[in-house]
Amino acid sequence: MAAYNDRRAEIQRLTAEDFTTPLDRCRRAAAALIGASPEEIALGGNTSFGINLAAAALPVEKGRRIVVSDREFPANIYPWMRRARDGVPLEIVRTGEDGHPDEERLAAAVAGGGVGILALSSVQFVDGYRMDLERLSTLCREQDTFLVIDGIQSLGHLPIDVSRIRVDVLATGGHKWLLGPFGTGFAYVRRDLQPRIEPGAVGWTAMPASDDIGDLLDYGYAFHPDARKFEVGTPPFQDFSGWAASLELLLEEGMERIRAHVLALAEEISEILADTPGRVTSDRSPRRRSAIVGFRPRDAGAVRERLATAGVQVAEREGILRFSPHLYNTRQDVDRLRKALA
Ligand SMILES: Cc1ncc(COP(=O)(O)O)c(C=O)c1O
Repeated sequence: MAAYNDRRAEIQRLTAEDFTTPLDRCRRAAAALIGASPEEIALGGNTSFGINLAAAALPVEKGRRIVVSDREFPANIYPWMRRARDGVPLEIVRTGEDGHPDEERLAAAVAGGGVGILALSSVQFVDGYRMDLERLSTLCREQDTFLVIDGIQSLGHLPIDVSRIRVDVLATGGHKWLLGPFGTGFAYVRRDLQPRIEPGAVGWTAMPASDDIGDLLDYGYAFHPDARKFEVGTPPFQDFSGWAASLELLLEEGMERIRAHVLALAEEISEILADTPGRVTSDRSPRRRSAIVGFRPRDAGAVRERLATAGVQVAEREGILRFSPHLYNTRQDVDRLRKALA
């Protein structure tokens, strides 16, 4: 990114490739990460880009509704509230008593046939609860329900394979587990769906008529025949050049290795926390666990500050401390946590 910016800071040093290669690399790597093809990847600035794309574009038949879970991150709530203002009913399904999305209730809603769109995070942001996407995807398919997934808390440590599990739109930002700069992200839009929907926000870059920047005024309202159709205007090339390197690094390390590594660390962390005054709020059963371990101590702020002093950074969300080891964390880091908590 620094090299890109250095070139950008000098007159006429950027070449034509600087405007295509970072984006092509990101689309290719993002596609490899989720079992898609690069033509199904639209680059955008964050998770909200993909959720809004879905909320604006997916058709919902009269009499059907949109379903989300309560306690979702707001990026996956407000765009649907916006759509509700256009008259499509929105149902926010109550969580179970444990505060996790009530998968039985969500599944029953879809199986009942009246759901046009089901929108969920694959992993919940507060305590890492993992949804059974395979089950929900099968149900959605049977009922012609669109499935929209916010993948930002799983992609990068728990893979989602859209070649195996059908998802209609998958949205993510790059700045968490995918180790990207702020302002990066992508939306996967399933290939068969692309010709059926039009973006709510239309970018000039979405049109082949703009391919020749020496001849932009010969307008032609026809979209690229791939997910570039959903991209909106000039992207932050320098940031995507950085993100391409991160995505390629993750792929090179191997998602399976990363998954095994972070789940092992998370397991150790949850064992340490189980012996600490307070409550582990995450469901650590094999079907539900992720590398996010939620822990509710009596005084979250005090514990967080104490840990920070010892060099252990954790996030505090809704009174819960969030421990989320990634590929760069080690056993030594976990030992440091153990000592700090003791
Ligand atoms: C589940 C989830 N979705 C979305 C976001 C962020 O949304 P955006 O990338 O649009 O800022 C976060 C956290 O920042 C999150 O945890």
